[in-house]
Amino acid sequence: MPDTAPFDLCLTRARLVTLADDRGYGLIEDGTLACRDGRIVFAGPAHALAAQEALAASVVVDCGGALVTPALIDCHTHLVFAGDRAGEFEQRLEGASYEDIARAGGGIASTVRATRAASEDALVEIGLARARALVRDGVGTIEIKSGYGLTIDSELSMLRAARRIGEALGIGVRTTFLGAHALPPEYAGRADDYIDFVCRTMLPAAAAEGLVDAVDAFCERIAFSPEQTARVFEAARALDIPVKLHADQLGDSGGGALVARFGGLSADHVEYTSEDSVRAMAASGTAAVLLPGAFLCLRETRLPPIDGFRRLGVPMAVATDANPGTSPLLSLRLAMALACIQFRLTPEESLRGATVNAARALGLADRGRLAPGLRADLALWNASDPAELSYWLGGDLLRALYVGGRRVD
Ligand code: NIG
Ligand code: FE
Repeated sequence: MPDTAPFDLCLTRARLVTLADDRGYGLIEDGTLACRDGRIVFAGPAHALAAQEALAASVVVDCGGALVTPALIDCHTHLVFAGDRAGEFEQRLEGASYEDIARAGGGIASTVRATRAASEDALVEIGLARARALVRDGVGTIEIKSGYGLTIDSELSMLRAARRIGEALGIGVRTTFLGAHALPPEYAGRADDYIDFVCRTMLPAAAAEGLVDAVDAFCERIAFSPEQTARVFEAARALDIPVKLHADQLGDSGGGALVARFGGLSADHVEYTSEDSVRAMAASGTAAVLLPGAFLCLRETRLPPIDGFRRLGVPMAVATDANPGTSPLLSLRLAMALACIQFRLTPEESLRGATVNAARALGLADRGRLAPGLRADLALWNASDPAELSYWLGGDLLRALYVGGRRVD
């Protein structure tokens, strides 16, 4: 279509938070944002675009001074699972630790039992409700991990369910294969054999169906060792799939440095990540994904090395980690607020963490900022100060969400 065709969508009288540069909100007062074919074609001051051109758009939205940001991106979730772990929540309140519960056969293993028993259709239904909650809070792209199936059939059905959720809602979904999440009971005492099965059978099968955007693993003393994790990463590398890692959540296992060694997209959790790992992440361009919901729910006290990330320029993302065990959190804005309150991120850092840096943690260069050529993934807010997005705890702040230029309801 020629560039002179009318716009499909034009937002006028908007306070645009473009995040166009590496610092600052990139705020444009009285801004206009115009889209065509699902992409942004203009994002700038109203006076730089002829009014008749803006008003000729198929849909014109007068924002009346309201804030427009890139749609939020939740770059770390486990939201496809069956059952819940409210009972474990009660046990933890009585003093049991996450690790105690995991070692006693609860934790991830109990969600595996429930998820294996659920059909793919049931997983879609259950996951849809959770994804809708995120969307209501301005999220236009969600990363969803497998890892509660741990058999070929069940892992594939989780990944297919995740993709179907994205299609049903008209939002972006990126799927991450997390076969190395926990040792399934049929492999008890044979972790290396299970890792062989992950590398040689499960991952190739999921990749052959085109269901794997990234590969993740749980590298921790209650899960898999750095050596086992490295084998999973080698298998991903052989298939040319990028990696990320649940790293240094319960202790320092050198996870940050390990995923950096593979040029990984992100190291996630990172409470116990060492200075050496931070340096390795900076050198490899690996993002840190902060998960303050899990920090809160586990009553963690060890803070991620935020100053080190800042000093060395490691991009920080913020995500919900929505999962039944450590973070039953279905609001990315609440995660942003918690990142400010618990980790002392600035509201600007937390917004970057849920947009441009979250895109980076997913290896996506086409979203997360407002700039010509990027996808028209936009959130229009009942707010005028960008800090409000991290300030209000709950509330109906979202006025409208557009993904690929289309309104999502
Ligand atoms: O990100 N740590 C591993 N995975 C999840 C928890 C999964 C669960 O407990 O079900 C996390 O915290
Ligand atoms: Fe997680």
